[in-house]
Amino acid sequence: MTVAFFQPLALTLDVHLDAADLRAALARDVRSGLGATRRSLPPTWFYDEHGSKLFEEITRLPEYYPTRAERVLLERHAGELAALTRSDTLVELGAGACEKTRVLLDALSALGTLRRYVPFDVSADFLEASATALGRQYEGLHVHAVVGDFHRHLGKIPGGGRRLIAFLGGTIGNLVPSQRRRFFSELRGTMAPCDHLLLGSDLVKDVARILAAYDDSKGVTGRFNRNLLHVVNRELDADFVPEHFAHVVRWDPLEQWIEMRLRSDRDQVVHVGALELTVPFSQDEELLTEISAKFTPRGVASELTRAGFVLDGQWGEDPGDFLLTLAHPASRC
Ligand code: SAH
Ligand code: AVI
Repeated sequence: MTVAFFQPLALTLDVHLDAADLRAALARDVRSGLGATRRSLPPTWFYDEHGSKLFEEITRLPEYYPTRAERVLLERHAGELAALTRSDTLVELGAGACEKTRVLLDALSALGTLRRYVPFDVSADFLEASATALGRQYEGLHVHAVVGDFHRHLGKIPGGGRRLIAFLGGTIGNLVPSQRRRFFSELRGTMAPCDHLLLGSDLVKDVARILAAYDDSKGVTGRFNRNLLHVVNRELDADFVPEHFAHVVRWDPLEQWIEMRLRSDRDQVVHVGALELTVPFSQDEELLTEISAKFTPRGVASELTRAGFVLDGQWGEDPGDFLLTLAHPASRC
């Protein structure tokens, strides 16, 4: 479905996931994830409107360094990135509040190439509000927002022009290695020779700092984590009592990733009404809700190269907090 609003702002909205699709996808994930011996749910379900707002709150916490670190890098290098890519379209995967994007939009606009912005996100209401607010600030910019799942709808991203596809915030780290391989290779397959990928990835660093970023003193990340249970309650008529699940954060030194879990504080039984599912949790049993992998510059380069990308450059301090990597498809523009 495509809806176009012409005045006063040029906003197009493509919806590849409506409320019924989302509910069906959540139902599949809940059935398989809660039915497994080692229980898990995908992090995509954090981001209803409330979860998206909680994530925004996380980005402003003193302990949560990734957003600030990435913004510093973008502010420092946006001019160079714009000159290297000369893009007329900025696509942003997992755009969220479209906040840091403005730095890239400003640089492309100063260069005189910018025509179109394509924010892509699974969170429809939040995306529409953020895209509308942004569109009002850039006169003449065509905002073409796309509601979709980057595991399923990469092929639906509008093509044409010279596109800079930004995947920022370290969201790539929320995918396990097999999902990353598939994601990079699918994305590469959708890209034209003059397109570029700009990837933001969080770097391996002092473990205490990483742990603090995911277990903040105000408890915002705990609320974000438990929001997943509120989403399942609302969408699938479940009766999780979120307060009976503790927010747990653990560093896995072999995988080099943070795990966020919810640990049952007692023996309890949860019913998921819409699925006629009964899920017993014993005391201390855990539900994995997110991994957030941390990278090295070489690791990022090798994953991209293996997927058929050629690197244009990497920006970040060494050792540093965060990394930007620019790459293009192997075929030349
Ligand atoms: N890029 C922003 C937001 C990061 S939060 C930043 O750097 O601050 C992660 C974003 O990815 C959220 O907006 C969430 O709704 C979106 N997201 C999560 N899983 C997704 C999926 N499978 N497909 C599309 N978007 C997804
Ligand atoms: C969106 N993503 C990159 C965040 C991260 O850091 O992995 C989500 C998040 N989870 C807890 N805090 C923030």
